[in-house]
Amino acid sequence: MLFSQLSIVAALLGTTSAALIAHGPVSECANEQVVDTAFIGANKDVKITLSHCANEPLVNAHGEAVPHLAKRQSNNVCGNACNTFCWASPTGGPTVSDCTVIADALLYESQNTGVFFNATAFGTSTNKITMTYNTCQTYFLNQDTSSITYCRTEWSKLVNWLASDCGPTNNAHGGLCVAADQRWYVQLQHN
Ligand SMILES: *[C@@H]1O[C@H](CO)[C@@H](O)[C@H](O)[C@H]1NC(C)=O
Repeated sequence: MLFSQLSIVAALLGTTSAALIAHGPVSECANEQVVDTAFIGANKDVKITLSHCANEPLVNAHGEAVPHLAKRQSNNVCGNACNTFCWASPTGGPTVSDCTVIADALLYESQNTGVFFNATAFGTSTNKITMTYNTCQTYFLNQDTSSITYCRTEWSKLVNWLASDCGPTNNAHGGLCVAADQRWYVQLQHN
């Protein structure tokens, strides 16, 4: 089951190669306000926080940090295409097995809580959802002016994808996948 899922992911994602970019993690999250914290996964060991940044780290479809983005129509964006950007240089990234724990916890929650989750609109108090386990941290950021629905299964795939494709074997130490329409991105970085 897991292997077939992974090979499907590899087949789907393998067609797009990740671009290596020089600048490091997008982390300009000033005055992060955490609204809620919980622990998820089969072992309740992956920390999830819902938060909002006073200075949102917005990213355009080319992987560049930008001050603002155009407004888009809102709905379910689960599975929509995203462009991957990895941060160059192989040291300082998360440990892949820690990221696997997060990916597995997301799958566990998709089966036990539900496939879909909502991220509230850009500028509201819970538009950033962060998952942390040991050295690995990933977050989903809604850059849209409306609430969007995404799915835990796709986030799980992106965690595995970014951990491997933006890992040391590809001379990288983390990265992000930005929606082609720029409405959201998923980042994976060292905690
Ligand atoms: C997401 O928000 C929409 C609109 O408010 C709602 O209908 C839906 O049930 C929510 N989905 C989840 C998974 O919370």
